[in-house]
Amino acid sequence: MLRFLDTVQRIYLDHNATTPLLPPIIDRMTAVLRDDFGNPSSVHHFGQQAKGAVDDARSDVAALIGADPSEVLFTSGGTEADNIAIRGAAEALETTGRKHLVASAIEHEAVLNTLKALARRGWRTTLLPVDQSGIVSPGALLEALADDTAVVSVMHANNEIGTIQPIVELARMAHERGALFHTDAVQSAGKIPIDVKALGVDMLSLSAHKFYGPKGVGALWIRRGLRVLPLLTGGRQERSRRAGTENVPGIAGMGTAARIAARKLVEEGARLACLRDRLEAGILQSVPGTAVNGAIDVRVPNTTNISFDRVEAESLLIALDLEGIAVSTGSACSSGTLEPSHVLKAMGFNAHRTQNSIRFSLGAGNTEAEIDRVVAVLPRIVEKLRSLTRAPARA
Ligand SMILES: Cc1ncc(COP(=O)(O)O)c(C=O)c1O
Repeated sequence: MLRFLDTVQRIYLDHNATTPLLPPIIDRMTAVLRDDFGNPSSVHHFGQQAKGAVDDARSDVAALIGADPSEVLFTSGGTEADNIAIRGAAEALETTGRKHLVASAIEHEAVLNTLKALARRGWRTTLLPVDQSGIVSPGALLEALADDTAVVSVMHANNEIGTIQPIVELARMAHERGALFHTDAVQSAGKIPIDVKALGVDMLSLSAHKFYGPKGVGALWIRRGLRVLPLLTGGRQERSRRAGTENVPGIAGMGTAARIAARKLVEEGARLACLRDRLEAGILQSVPGTAVNGAIDVRVPNTTNISFDRVEAESLLIALDLEGIAVSTGSACSSGTLEPSHVLKAMGFNAHRTQNSIRFSLGAGNTEAEIDRVVAVLPRIVEKLRSLTRAPARA
């Protein structure tokens, strides 16, 4: 059996893709699956027990972002939260004549493709450029804003390079022109402190599986009083903003994940930043032709994105996987062709650099010994890949 032969000690450095469930979260979800099977809309004991689990989770998620529980709406994940925020707010404003949407060029596809879909239905869209720091400049937003701008969406932290965007300033500028501001905080929630009021945003998206909760559950915070049209029509769940019987075990798992994240945020952030810096310094020192992509001073603590000159990122990813080390490239494989990272492309890097970069994203289980092992094996792997590229083609 393959598993029996799999004696490699695996190191997981792809926490921005997803995180493992922590044991207390598995315990909570198991208990809810077993004991709280009622429908939260039912008035009897069983229903109220399930409703209690959802309410507790709502309070825990709200506490993670400094919000009131009544403003938190559970969704099927970050993608749906982004969709409700942008489509729901844009459609609610349609009759006012505001038909312009703005987002940064380095957003996740959940935002970019939502803008594309709305553009096909008549909305005007503008993507804000970034420079090689990977940070949106407030000047770019100032230029893009118009009298008919309905919604501006700029992510809190980028998933590929980890850069944190100047949300407070961008949100203030959007409001000065009468536009709403949404931020996708999928990659910052649970990694750095978030306070929706201090950020000054109108809507904020979260996803449980990025902070040790289950996949397929997320949340959207909507500022009280803001009108957002639902995407799903049906029952009156989630204050009529998201129809459908709630994913009670998933929501309970997200709540527990939020509570644990809030408790450990500062301490774990410092530990991960230390490990990330050790990894980064180790690679830059031991592997020639390497460079960090994006600003290094305003990043989430767990992420680094490094380019390896004269190495195909995909080959490096596979070689590292054979050594038991899981990382990621920003490139997406769609219909058999490797698309270069749209984030690195937007940052102005050439085709080579957009395809020779690797994202290392650290998390709860990583140790100093693991980081040292990665730093120890990388020079040999990179040297080998480079020598293969140098080798003259045989006749
Ligand atoms: C920045 C960002 N937004 C949105 C999403 C989508 O979240 P979900 O997987 O929960 O749909 C992701 C997932 O990778 C992400 O990194």
